[in-house]
Amino acid sequence: MIPKETVDKVLHVADILEVVGDFVHLKKSGSSYRGLSPFSNEKTPSFYVVPTKGIFKDFSSGKGGGVVQFLMEHEKMTFPESVKWLAKKYNIEIEEEQPNEEALKERSERESLQAVNSWASEWFESQLWTGGEGRAVGYAYFRERGFRDDIIKRFQLGYCNEGWDTMTLAAKAAGYEEAWLKASGLTKEGKSGKLFDFFHGRVMFPISDVSGRVVAFGGRTLKTDKKVAKYFNSPESALYHKSRILYGLYQAKNAIVKADRCFLVEGYTDVISLHQAGVENVVASSGTSLTEDQVRLIKRYTQHVTILFDGDAAGIRASFRGINLILAQGLDVKVVLFPDGEDPDSYARSVSTETFQEYLLKEARDFIRFKSEILAKDAAGDPTKRADMIREVVDSIAMVPDAIQRSVYIQECSSLLNMDEEVLINETNRRLQKGLKKRSQPGDYVPEAAPFPVPQPEERGETNLYDASAQERDLIRLLLHYGNLPIEVSLHDLETDEEAMHQTSVSEYLLFELENEGLSLKNSAYQRVANFYAGELAKGCFPEVKHLINHADPSVGEVCADILAERFEVSANWAELHDIYPDTEDLNLSKATKDCICKLKIKRVMQMIEELTEELKDPQLPDERLLIILEEKRHLDAVKSELARHFGSTIL
Ligand code: CTP
Ligand code: MN
Repeated sequence: MIPKETVDKVLHVADILEVVGDFVHLKKSGSSYRGLSPFSNEKTPSFYVVPTKGIFKDFSSGKGGGVVQFLMEHEKMTFPESVKWLAKKYNIEIEEEQPNEEALKERSERESLQAVNSWASEWFESQLWTGGEGRAVGYAYFRERGFRDDIIKRFQLGYCNEGWDTMTLAAKAAGYEEAWLKASGLTKEGKSGKLFDFFHGRVMFPISDVSGRVVAFGGRTLKTDKKVAKYFNSPESALYHKSRILYGLYQAKNAIVKADRCFLVEGYTDVISLHQAGVENVVASSGTSLTEDQVRLIKRYTQHVTILFDGDAAGIRASFRGINLILAQGLDVKVVLFPDGEDPDSYARSVSTETFQEYLLKEARDFIRFKSEILAKDAAGDPTKRADMIREVVDSIAMVPDAIQRSVYIQECSSLLNMDEEVLINETNRRLQKGLKKRSQPGDYVPEAAPFPVPQPEERGETNLYDASAQERDLIRLLLHYGNLPIEVSLHDLETDEEAMHQTSVSEYLLFELENEGLSLKNSAYQRVANFYAGELAKGCFPEVKHLINHADPSVGEVCADILAERFEVSANWAELHDIYPDTEDLNLSKATKDCICKLKIKRVMQMIEELTEELKDPQLPDERLLIILEEKRHLDAVKSELARHFGSTIL
């Protein structure tokens, strides 16, 4: 829906170094920049950005591409979302082409809900500060809880009047439609058809998304009556997906990055009290256990999570499962336990800021160790419980994607639980394999890593004589690095029946040859790259690599970045294996280009010969077919020798 010219404009100004730099800490290293991979949990940096080429390449996860791919991978955005994000960053106006009806409807739904929510949030706030009832009841309540004015303002706390429909009437007077008020859950319809404020008589906690837009509310009652639900929360809507929102993240994100740690608490008031105690890197999952999406949100900002528990032991055990989810995403998890009867909120208020902060530092303990200790205590002297306990501990260890980290845990837990290391290792491997088999089952959390390294089909080290993947790759490499550079080739002119020198470009020549010989590339991503070149050339354009690396199909961007990253990482091995010398080819680009296509052809011809040879082995082969095959084979042998002559005899 975004016109191509706009995409071009965005890609033109977007600076990959700047964009990636927003998410990854990068250090200059030669002509590229280096940092820790945001896609894996590595200790030595193998994530590169090459600004001159507009690419990133992550050698630890294999991901790579342009600036758009980075956003798609890292922020889990779609292609248009990434382009829009960039446009916003670089102040480029996006004129969207007429979107389809459904998209329009959804957008207007979200926008309308957004408008209602942000109006309501301001209204609740104004009631709290300047409304007679709001000040006397709502503001007084927060003050009594010890919340400072600046903190009440930072979290935009508000108040919804006790009268049944005060807010709804004000909203309608301000021009908001009943339909959206209802859809947002702010207004409800009673049995008699009378409208009323869902949150009436409650203090209001607006819930924002990462960019600070209010998407929902929590409203706390001021009654102590146990029959009244303490909190009301906005229903799910096109705008609000509870499982993808973390309370306080907007206010916390900078502090999380700075501290490289995120504290996780249970409730709204815990978040707010911690801020007041000077601990701003804190979010709440709002009463439910953490979801996978929420963990992913945290992971954008840090790898380190500390969960703050109140002293209630039942709650701790109940949360163990949820915490495995955090481990599974490669985050490191610590826990802090508060004294009996205290929660983070009450404890933060009962001690000085210094004492509180010190407590968080001093009491933080590794989660797996903590869990093992608790379960070991539970199981003391009870053999059946002990077996369960081991299984549970192993469940957590198996979630850790990093193998080294896992083995550290196994060592520790074996001494903690007084248990043979071998048993734990076996148990962990069993669990891992089970996880791998069930991988595709939704809702089943399995570790990201394999238990032992699974041998990858090594493209570079291929030994199959007829496999042309190295040659295909080389062709793409020439296209990407030198596609628009001029070369001279001699072509056979049919009219004069003479060889004549022609000025062409690397890409024109390679694509001409592919088409002329009816050669297609077996690797589909490579073929897509070649198609892109063919399409651009047909339009008379110079193909631009930046469009490719930001291709809407991520596999294209990935192979391109992979190949582009290679020039600053050429292995000697590669040259020897495939007789391809990237370092020196600049000197003779024409030769490199011709060699490349020639080798690809040789591979194909050899494969065809091989297929024919196979067919010849068939004892039932009819004679007429035999003759055809022999004829074809003779022809191919001749082609092969002709091609081989190009290199001298050694190549074959
Ligand atoms: N919660 C909820 N509905 C309830 C109770 C709790 O949605 N009926 C959620 C809220 O997000 C709340 C969190 O669970 O913040 C933790 O609950 P609780 O500790 O009871 O609430 P606090 O926010 O700590 O409130 P207070 O300290 O005022 O009791
Ligand atoms: Mn509380």
